[in-house]
Amino acid sequence: MSNHPGNRTSSHSGHTTPDRTGLGVPSDAERLPMTVPSLMEHKQRGEPLVMVTCYDYPSARIVEESGVDLVLVGDTAAMTVLGYDSTVPVTVDELLVLVKAVRRGLRSPLLVGDLPFGSYEVSDEQAVITAQRFVKEGGCDAVKLEGGGVMIERARAIASTGIPVVGHVGLTPQTATALGGFKAQGRTANRAFLLVKDALALQDAGCCCVVFEAIPAAVAEVVMERIEIPVIGIGAGGSTDGQVLVWHDLLGLYEWGSPRFVKRYADLRPQILDALRRYSSEVRAGQFPTSEYTYSIDPAELSELRELLA
Ligand code: KIV
Repeated sequence: MSNHPGNRTSSHSGHTTPDRTGLGVPSDAERLPMTVPSLMEHKQRGEPLVMVTCYDYPSARIVEESGVDLVLVGDTAAMTVLGYDSTVPVTVDELLVLVKAVRRGLRSPLLVGDLPFGSYEVSDEQAVITAQRFVKEGGCDAVKLEGGGVMIERARAIASTGIPVVGHVGLTPQTATALGGFKAQGRTANRAFLLVKDALALQDAGCCCVVFEAIPAAVAEVVMERIEIPVIGIGAGGSTDGQVLVWHDLLGLYEWGSPRFVKRYADLRPQILDALRRYSSEVRAGQFPTSEYTYSIDPAELSELRELLA
């Protein structure tokens, strides 16, 4: 296996290639790199976009093979990988380590890096400098930032430098305190109106795509009737152009519960725990390693060694 999954120079009109797996997943060789223009082509063809978060190299190799369209190194890494109790403390330098590892493992999905709290809000200049680090040092294809209001200007500033920007409205975890906690947004006519306005303003600011998080499905449908850029939903119902889920949620890697909108596609934590317990018990019982897992030496060499030591 090569350590370098390849370059992304090829462009194409359409990400989907013939399916030889029967699961809608083209093989490694058949898969073409996803590009920003091809996001729009997917939307126009009505082909749902699949996005997942990812935070390290081995997971990126699996994600690559799975054939998803977009990968987000989310600031959720703060909680899922780094053990902080919110997304607020994670720094650009911490996230860049993860982004670079994921970049090394990916070839075809579009890689989006999440700008963490405090790294883009202060000024357009700060936003552009941070976004450039994600592209230049991290190898991201696009960056994501949270919020409407003044953040629309930050999105415009970044997009104007040629860096593709993904917006994020609805529940924006970086500012969850101001929103009254981790709860669904846009549940009154006035709040939903502001949300629609923010989504359309992010589009006008040049965003190539926008994430809707934790909003009523009917509100998402209202925006979908008006918006032209692709929309990726998480807890926003089925009308959006695609879906995103967090790696640890969809694979069942934590013992605690997940938000209402999470579907667990696997329950890996018990399997990992079981493997670790069997390993511990075999080491403690002297059952591992057996000769199968051990190097040998020519008996003559061994005798010579003993003579040398005598
Ligand atoms: O940081 C993240 O993982 C996200 C997704 C939940 C969209 O923003």
